[in-house]
Amino acid sequence: MLFYGLFLVLQAILVHSAALRQSSSSSLTTAAREKCQTDLQCPPGTLIVSNADHPLSSFTSLQAAISSLPNDNSSQIILLLSGSYNEQVNITRAGPITLLGQQPDHSALTDAARNTVNLTFAGANQDSTGSIDNVWFSVMIVAPTLDASLTGSGTTGYPVPADTPFGNTNFRVYNIDFRNTFSEYSAGPAHAISFSRSNGGFYYCGFYSYQDTIYIGKLGSAYMYKSILAGQTDFLYGFGTLYVQSSQILLRSCGGGITAWKGTNTSVTNNYGVYIHDSTVRAANTSIAPDIKESCALGRPWNALHRSIFANTYEDGSIEPSGYINWEDRWTANETLMAEYKAYGPGFNLTGREDSEVSVLLDSKEYARYSDPERVFLFSDGRVGNVAWIDWEVVNSS
Ligand SMILES: *[C@@H]1O[C@H](CO)[C@@H](O)[C@H](O)[C@H]1NC(C)=O
Ligand SMILES: *[C@@H]1O[C@H](CO)[C@@H](O)[C@H](O)[C@H]1NC(C)=O
Ligand SMILES: *[C@@H]1O[C@H](CO)[C@@H](O)[C@H](O)[C@H]1NC(C)=O
Ligand SMILES: *[C@@H]1O[C@H](CO)[C@@H](O)[C@H](O)[C@H]1NC(C)=O
Ligand SMILES: *[C@@H]1O[C@H](CO)[C@@H](O)[C@H](O)[C@H]1NC(C)=O
Ligand SMILES: *[C@@H]1O[C@H](CO)[C@@H](O)[C@H](O)[C@H]1NC(C)=O
Ligand SMILES: *[C@@H]1O[C@H](CO)[C@@H](O)[C@H](O)[C@H]1NC(C)=O
Repeated sequence: MLFYGLFLVLQAILVHSAALRQSSSSSLTTAAREKCQTDLQCPPGTLIVSNADHPLSSFTSLQAAISSLPNDNSSQIILLLSGSYNEQVNITRAGPITLLGQQPDHSALTDAARNTVNLTFAGANQDSTGSIDNVWFSVMIVAPTLDASLTGSGTTGYPVPADTPFGNTNFRVYNIDFRNTFSEYSAGPAHAISFSRSNGGFYYCGFYSYQDTIYIGKLGSAYMYKSILAGQTDFLYGFGTLYVQSSQILLRSCGGGITAWKGTNTSVTNNYGVYIHDSTVRAANTSIAPDIKESCALGRPWNALHRSIFANTYEDGSIEPSGYINWEDRWTANETLMAEYKAYGPGFNLTGREDSEVSVLLDSKEYARYSDPERVFLFSDGRVGNVAWIDWEVVNSS
């Protein structure tokens, strides 16, 4: 009887999670998306952007296409044809948006290294007084309002007004590279993307900069899949939640740490942080590899609420023996989590980790609550399982 009861409970959980894992009905199937990206045979209503005067295109910039969208809850698709688009893009719309990058053939669709669409912008925040916000230097900004997108200063950042609406409910990007081309070294915060108060999935994308490449702001939930995340200093940072799956983290030099999370001090159980799964961490190329041997940190605490995990992830010899490092004594026992779970490779030095006072090696029980997007992404009331905006057809196919 007891066992049957347990069986029913387990079955209910499984049925529930299968339902949660279905993508929302308005989203593109993989087959339809790929036909659009490779053969330019797209669903009716798809907006096509080209800066090379293509007969099918109606826009020469992504921002022009975004600005033409109705301000409602309809799902919209935009295809960018191959090329480099030098522009800053700002998206405040709440309705679902899918951005597609054209690819030359089917085999390139799952390889971010072969992307043919660049969004580029050159800018870095070099104001040492902190009076100018990092958001002004991002290639792309996704947030409902300017307030929602501001990093601000101090450990809790910009106080976003409580009545700020939620932004994009279902933002999806496939095969697009975001490149902040300000410099070839860290020269101040230079975002490739700034993503706040929104839900977004990025598949086979590239994020290239040196400092603060990826900013996931307050109430931002981002999922990155088979993507390339490149930087030098604190290049995964923010207040929200970032779940990185099967991706490449490229070190273009060392500085600060790979991760520098703030975390959001909320009244609900706090799952915010950056969680890297089944990925690789490597020097960006062999010419810089000797220069950064054993000197890059996995992360440092921007404040005590920093939370990051490198799980089942390969680390090359660039990583410091200690793994993580402290930052002005911000590390706080039982509050800061700078962890690894089954990380491996020449960058994983067990003695170094055990000697470190800040790096933590999780056991499977401690790791469990961060092991799946369903356990990590929260609804605004604190319930887990806010994952309908993830493209499960793509994620489950490989
Ligand atoms: C969009 O949907 C939200 C939530 O369902 C609703 O509150 C809002 O009024 C809708 N907006 C428009 C413009 O229809
Ligand atoms: C995108 O930018 C990269 C890096 O500068 C460059 O190698 C590549 O050729 C660019 N792609 C296109 C389509 O211009
Ligand atoms: C983005 O657009 C909104 C709405 O037009 C505007 O209020 C905001 O200042 C813009 N943000 C940036 C960083 O340009
Ligand atoms: C190696 O990476 C560094 C840093 O990103 C870059 O400056 C350099 O051009 C790269 N070299 C090659 C051969 O790609
Ligand atoms: C979090 O909030 C509590 C209560 O408001 C406050 O005491 C604490 O200092 C905050 N922690 C951080 C790191 O901001
Ligand atoms: C951290 O938590 C452990 C176990 O609950 C407890 O023994 C320890 O005193 C705590 N440390 C601090 C600094 O709060
Ligand atoms: C591992 O870390 C320890 C302690 O920091 C250090 O003595 C040792 O040389 C490191 N081993 C390697 C292979 O780097």
